[in-house]
Amino acid sequence: MNRRVDVKKNNEHCYDIVISQGFNGIKDELEALGIKGIKLCIVTDSNVGPLYADTLKGVLENTGNSVYTYTIPAGEENKNLSVVQDVYTYLIEQHFERRDMLIALGGGVVGDLTGFTAATYLRGIDFIQVPTSLLAQVDSSIGGKTGVDFAKYKNMVGAFHMPRLVYINIDTLSSLSPRLFNSGFGEIIKHGLIKNRAYFDYLDVNYEHIKALEPEYISETIYQSCLIKAEVVNNDPTEKGERALLNFGHTLGHAVEKLMNFTLYHGECVALGMICASYISKNRGLITDGDYSLIISMIKKYGFPTKIEGLDIHSILEVSKSDKKMDNGVVKFILLESLGKAIIDRTVTYEEMTQGLKEIL
Ligand SMILES: NC(=O)c1ccc[n+]([C@@H]2O[C@H](COP(=O)([O-])OP(=O)(O)OC[C@H]3O[C@@H](n4cnc5c(N)ncnc54)[C@H](O)[C@@H]3O)[C@@H](O)[C@H]2O)c1
Ligand SMILES: [Zn+2]
Repeated sequence: MNRRVDVKKNNEHCYDIVISQGFNGIKDELEALGIKGIKLCIVTDSNVGPLYADTLKGVLENTGNSVYTYTIPAGEENKNLSVVQDVYTYLIEQHFERRDMLIALGGGVVGDLTGFTAATYLRGIDFIQVPTSLLAQVDSSIGGKTGVDFAKYKNMVGAFHMPRLVYINIDTLSSLSPRLFNSGFGEIIKHGLIKNRAYFDYLDVNYEHIKALEPEYISETIYQSCLIKAEVVNNDPTEKGERALLNFGHTLGHAVEKLMNFTLYHGECVALGMICASYISKNRGLITDGDYSLIISMIKKYGFPTKIEGLDIHSILEVSKSDKKMDNGVVKFILLESLGKAIIDRTVTYEEMTQGLKEIL
């Protein structure tokens, strides 16, 4: 059974997220959007394409559109302007026009790069997200942030460009590597912690079913996470206020990610960052010792490392100072006011961060 999230922008309907099994359901969605008689280009990567592109192409062809496929090499190192240019070239050669559309089939790399290509090709054409990694399904495909890395700077060039539809086929999760699948739960646990205690408890009680990819449970999980991300983005589409709450665990998490040279996955670093931020929240008396233990046991339950070796506190603090979550030289830190409610705080000191970091070192 499909689940559907109505994503709004400034309180008006913007697009739907459809959570389904298999690709067949995308046919009705395209028909409902009146998409026919145009060219569609599936942009995918060298891992995902061989697994799913032909099946998706078959379904899309049944909608009366002409379907093309362009495959980029997999990996973050290919999320750059040179690969965007390769896609532009292909689209020009195939005579793609303004009314034509791109379909991003893959993880966050494909979604970000395809979205950016769509935002800029012919001053902007439509695109659809078909996210295939857990991280992309609960996070990167929602909210309209698109972009690529530039030189050594991550997500330095980009645009806000909303998709026409996000279509999630949960069956694609079964081909993810176990560690990558696992890493997606960093953002999922974060969603419960910052916005919804009942969802956090659901994740706690049902983790065996969820991790075993039982359709009912994994769909419910993705649905709840999409609801939370969509709500936050609706309240703050261009990231001026509330959207900062999504950075819970990211201030110190990103610093760890950089210093470990991206050998740890994003979700693993976010989990470590969430431990530090929760510890600071506990020290300030915002959450109880019991809440803090619950958070640690949840992070462990979902298979995340809770300690890290080979890093020192000073370098982590130095890197977080240069992070873009800084606001006029002050670190915009996200704390938990209670389990299920996050707040933005500009008064967290380096001493408090040091105490938080001691928990993971
Ligand atoms: N736009 C946003 O709001 C936003 C938010 C968070 C992250 N991001 C971006 O997302 C990217 C990370 O996304 P990611 O973790 O999905 O990385 P990714 O796209 O690199 O995917 C990870 C790996 O898994 C493979 N893969 C994806 N789906 C698969 C499947 N179903 N079966 C087998 N293999 C599969 C990919 O080919 C890749 O090798 C980063 O570039 C990050 O900046 C964007
Ligand atoms: Zn993140």
